[in-house]
Amino acid sequence: MPLLNILRYPDPRLHKVAKPVTTFDAKLKQLAEDMAETMYEAPGVGLAATQVDVHEQLIVIDTSDARTDLRVFINPEIVWASAEMQVYEEGCLSVPGIYDGVERHAQVRVKALDIEGKPFELEADGLLAVCIQHEMDHLKGKVFVEYLSPLKRNRIKTKMLKEEREQTKSRKQAAVR
Ligand code: NI
Repeated sequence: MPLLNILRYPDPRLHKVAKPVTTFDAKLKQLAEDMAETMYEAPGVGLAATQVDVHEQLIVIDTSDARTDLRVFINPEIVWASAEMQVYEEGCLSVPGIYDGVERHAQVRVKALDIEGKPFELEADGLLAVCIQHEMDHLKGKVFVEYLSPLKRNRIKTKMLKEEREQTKSRKQAAVR
């Protein structure tokens, strides 16, 4: 199974809005498997289809220490969120090396479909609640750095573009050799 290429901020494709999944077939299962493998390999605790340039409402999450608790959410919706908020130091596979505090609901109840298309509901708190909200933002075309100040966001954008230029340069040099 191939590892998928993860889009890096500020790639404009990260701002596309994902469409609901309507077909539950082998292709969808393969996508979920490839996304899980890509997430574990990275390593990360969550990945949204948007990040691998597939604009459908699918996310994979595993917040367990043992990495044995894979969860797949298709067409997820938040049906309840606590008034209580929490600030968590977040990172993102699309913004490597950047971590910053984001305020989100401390608890959420999410309704979604599993890989077979069966509905389920889940109440989450702690890291899982953070992760669900972070990944659902990706499906709406939103990256966590958009919660930060414009000054911080611009610094991050500049840093990411500089790294990308350097990587392209070294790839070109390697190709010449
Ligand atoms: Ni992310």
